[in-house]
Formats: sequence, structure tokens, C-alpha cells
Amino acid sequence: MVRYFIWTIGCQMNKAESQRIAGYLDVAGYQAAASFSDADLVVLNTCVVRQSAENKVLGTLGLLKGLKNEHPNLQILVTGCWVNSNAQELKKRFPHVNLLFKPGDYHELIAWGQKQGMLVEERPLHYPFPALKTSTHYNDARMTSSPCTFVPIIQGCDNFCSYCIVPYRRGREVSRPMEEIVYEVKELVRQGIKEITLLGQNVDSYGHDLPKHPDLADLLNELNNIDGLVRIRFLTNHPKDISLKLIDAVASLNKVCEHLELPVQAGDDDILKAMRRGYNVERYRELVHTIRREISQISLGTDIIVGFPSETEEQFEHSLSLVKDIKFDVVHVAAYSPRPGTLAWREYQDNIPASVKKDRLNKIEELQTAVASEINSQLQGKEVEILVEGRKKGKWFGRTRSNKLVFFEDAGDWLGQLAIIRIEKTSPWSLRGKVKNN
Ligand code: SAH
Ligand code: SF4
Ligand code: F3S
Repeated sequence: MVRYFIWTIGCQMNKAESQRIAGYLDVAGYQAAASFSDADLVVLNTCVVRQSAENKVLGTLGLLKGLKNEHPNLQILVTGCWVNSNAQELKKRFPHVNLLFKPGDYHELIAWGQKQGMLVEERPLHYPFPALKTSTHYNDARMTSSPCTFVPIIQGCDNFCSYCIVPYRRGREVSRPMEEIVYEVKELVRQGIKEITLLGQNVDSYGHDLPKHPDLADLLNELNNIDGLVRIRFLTNHPKDISLKLIDAVASLNKVCEHLELPVQAGDDDILKAMRRGYNVERYRELVHTIRREISQISLGTDIIVGFPSETEEQFEHSLSLVKDIKFDVVHVAAYSPRPGTLAWREYQDNIPASVKKDRLNKIEELQTAVASEINSQLQGKEVEILVEGRKKGKWFGRTRSNKLVFFEDAGDWLGQLAIIRIEKTSPWSLRGKVKNN
């Protein structure tokens, strides 16, 4: 029996692609292993969005070199955004790697597998059924399959924000035809999936490159009609591409959850301009105002970068004020990291000291912890509905439609069920309560 282990870092797109690779390996008769050391084949699914991610990749490759010295038959496959057109050069630098393939280039994986005598079935890539394996958790010494899964709908990015490497590694935007996505989601639902998260680096620009130009709202309308599907989410939105039609779809479609990821990146107009984001702070605030007016109970998440080249203390304070005023449910904050090849890397010096970046990052996080603590405490004593995704440390967990993580204890089998939970304890990161509908 051949066993595989997939190591994944980076965004949800990578997680979705790892699920799909697992699907191919399962079809080939391989079995999931619990760690590197139990595996005969490992796949590294890499990210290079910041230097810290790239360092993790290099560290893990080093670790695997050691493992391979002990087990010369270990097969090492590498994919994700670390792999690009320089694959040949990487192959020379890392001779212990058996195969490098670009993100989503399953043909390469399959061709390699067939050469190894693996029975990897080639299927039409637009009907990716081998990927129907749902995310698996190893909890309480037994495996449970999550009722939630990712569905990539648009690949790549056309935006070229000045700091970002993603367009260079993932290429231009390519949308999948609507019929294909609907077909795939129906198939997923037939296999037990209850919640899907539609993925794209720029998910709200879906469809502009397709014949007849359907948009994300059209797709949501179609998906909302699928019997058995309970919840629909989508990420990540670009503020400049969110339309009123999309906001209206979220407000009116019963399966589309009340949560939007809307990365702002900075709260200062000059920084936003240097980042090439295509909106200013006022437009962003107006957008949030419109969204909140149209969709009651909407929860909002955002991303912020601190320490962009030449960011002054005052400009940073503008980001801080925005976080204070808007009261996001979640804020992901990152310190600026120069990425070779990007515009910001070419044009600007990375001139904010690491200690200042760290200090700014901590300030945003501290403020957001207080904001989230306040928002979540309002749920104390309230009843919320969650879709139960799995178990962690003896407790069931799931999310509210607004994407809040909720834990509860119960002896019953709740996997994939909707549970009504009365919230007894809240924190900035999660909630805890008792099930009411058992
Ligand atoms: N397409 C999404 C996410 C892209 S990458 C968007 O437009 O927001 C995920 C996050 O990583 C970004 O939102 C950004 O906050 C962060 N990021 C991207 N490049 C970065 C860099 N060079 N340094 C620090 N953070 C970065
Ligand atoms: Fe990167 Fe900007 Fe594209 Fe997001 S929208 S992936 S931050 S270039
Ligand atoms: Fe990382 Fe690539 Fe996603 S660089 S954030 S894995 S698109």
C-alpha cells in the first residue's frame, strides 16, 4: 500500500487544489498518511505571497531532503505558487524533488503518475470528479468528512496591485463556464456536500471573460436553486468590482450567507494609490455603508498590510481609524514583504524597519481583538444556527451563516447537521454554547 501526505500552506485556492490532488491519488489507490514520516509520496503545495511563506517552503524542502536520505524511495512532488516558469532551474537546485508542477497543472501530475505505473485516471479537467473527496479531519482518532468544500470558479488575477506576486504566479483571470460549475456543485451535493465556498482571487469579477458575460450574481442565482445545497459562500471580493446586483443577490438569496470578505489593504488614500488598488477610502466607506443598508446582519472581513514602503505614522493611523470606525468582524493583518518582480519591489525601497512593522501589526491586532470581543459578546444568550463541520478536542464545531466559529458538546452525531446553539460563552475568536434542537 502506497501512502501519501499533502502539505499545504497559503490561501483557500491552494487548499482546494490539495483536495483535488488527494482525489487523484485516491483514485490511483493511494492512502492518506498522517505525517511526512508515514508517507511514501509527499506533495508540497506552496505559497510565496510573503517571504515568510517562501521560507517555510525552503525549510520543509530541507527537512524532506533529510527524510529522503533515510528513505531513498520517498517521492517528493512540489506544486503551488513557488513553482513557476523557472521549474527547470528549481529542479537543478533541488535534485531530491521528483516532480515540480505549476498550480492546477494536473496533466503534469497525471503524466508523471502514469510513468510511475500509478493508475491515475485522466478525466476531462472541467469535470473534476476525482476531487470530490471532501476535506478530511483527523479528530478523536477517527476520520470525519466535512460537509463543506471549496469550488474554484475563476483562476488568476488581472489587478496587479503593486505589492502582489499572485498575478505573476497564477496568470490572468480565467472563469469556468457557469454550466460546468452548476454541474459540479450538483454532483458534490449528491455526494453529501451541504456548503460550498466559491473561490477566486477576485471572485466578484467572475464571468467577464466568458461568452454572454454572466456575473457572480447570475451564478449565485443558479446555485441557489440546487436542492440539498444548504449554504453558499464566496471569496475574495475586490472592492472595485462589487456591484449593486451582487449585493442584492446576497441580500435576497436564502442560501447565500451573510458574510463578505472585502480586503481594504490600507486606510490612507496615498498608500492605496501606491498600492494601485483602484479605490479611495471614501469609496470603500460608502461601499460598506451600502452593503450594511442592503444586507442586515452582514458580517465583514478584511485584509490590511502595514509597513508598505514609506508608510508614515500618520498614514498608518488612518488604517487604525478605519478599523476602529468600520468594526469588521475579522481583520487579517500582514507586514509588507517585498516580492521580487512586483512593481513595489522595483519602484520603492522596503524602508520601514521590521520592528516598526511589527509594532503596527500588533496595534491593529490589539484594536481588532477589542472590536471582535465587543461584536461577539452581543451574541451571549442568543440562539444561532450552525452547520456542523467536524470535531475538535472532543467538541463539535461549525459556523454560523455570518462565519463565526461555534463549539458545543453533545453525544449525538451532528456531522453535516444544522444545530441551533444557545451561546453561553464568547471570545474574540470563537463562541461556545449548548445545542437546543436535539
Ligand atoms: N486577492 C485577494 C488576496 C490576495 S493575497 C485580495 O485582493 O485581497 C492575500 C493577502 O495577502 C492580501 O489580501 C494581502 O493583504 C496580503 N499580501 C499580498 N501581498 C503581500 C505582500 N507583498 N506583503 C504583505 N502582504 C501581502
Ligand atoms: Fe494580489 Fe491585488 Fe490580485 Fe488580490 S487583487 S491577488 S492583492 S494583485
Ligand atoms: Fe499564496 Fe499563491 Fe494563494 S502565493 S496566497 S498560494 S495564490
